[in-house]
Amino acid sequence: MDNKNYEILYEDESHKYIMFSFDDESHEDAYLSVNQYLIVKNGAGFLIDPGSEAIFDEMYEAVSEHVEIENIKYIFFSHQDPDVAGSIGQWSISTKAKFIMSSIWIRFMSHYGFTEMSRVMPLADKGAQLKFGEDYIKFIPAHFLHSPGNFSLYDTKSKIVFSGDIGAAIVSSPEHKQVENFEEHKEHLAGFHKRYMGSNKLCRAWVREMRQLNISMIVPQHGFVFKDDNIELFLEWLDELECGSDLLDELY
Ligand SMILES: [Fe+2]
Ligand SMILES: [Fe+2]
Repeated sequence: MDNKNYEILYEDESHKYIMFSFDDESHEDAYLSVNQYLIVKNGAGFLIDPGSEAIFDEMYEAVSEHVEIENIKYIFFSHQDPDVAGSIGQWSISTKAKFIMSSIWIRFMSHYGFTEMSRVMPLADKGAQLKFGEDYIKFIPAHFLHSPGNFSLYDTKSKIVFSGDIGAAIVSSPEHKQVENFEEHKEHLAGFHKRYMGSNKLCRAWVREMRQLNISMIVPQHGFVFKDDNIELFLEWLDELECGSDLLDELY
């Protein structure tokens, strides 16, 4: 990512997919790299998992370099966690955007200081698709991976899958942002997925959804981007992964 705080993952004359990486630096001892994303289509913005309250100012400034803040039409929250949605109150004050999230998490958002429930577009469990310019954003069920109400995103133009916490890697101060060697990367994925993800059955359901799509990249909320052969290697790994309730004996 060089010295700049963003990376353009896809760009054509009307469509752009941008990755940011802002971390909550007040917790450097428990470092977890966090990625935020922005799709800009004909000047309209679609913001993805904008993050915690602590990074709001930096995010606001970074985002405003790519889209007029008042032109942010939608803000998507893959699930309810603070590293995903902690800044929802601040974004509600500073934009006119609609907020897209699982219907089961709406009632919890007031605890982040968000009260404008009429601005929420709730997602039913089976997901939905949204017309964005002449293209679509698809909301794909990813429940219990790890949150009970959880969605991944597929952008039909760039063919990028935003996978939320699926594919998250625990990595310290990354110098690059792309998986290079999947065999080596597995060790950064394993601990997180075994403990945070619901079960192998749930992983398989999500992988099945992914196999319906033509994917250019899988981009997670933490860690590195999967491209080329690493997409299939990751899906195969996840399809076989024992996690969550598969490992019940380790928890009790
Ligand atoms: Fe999470
Ligand atoms: Fe997360």
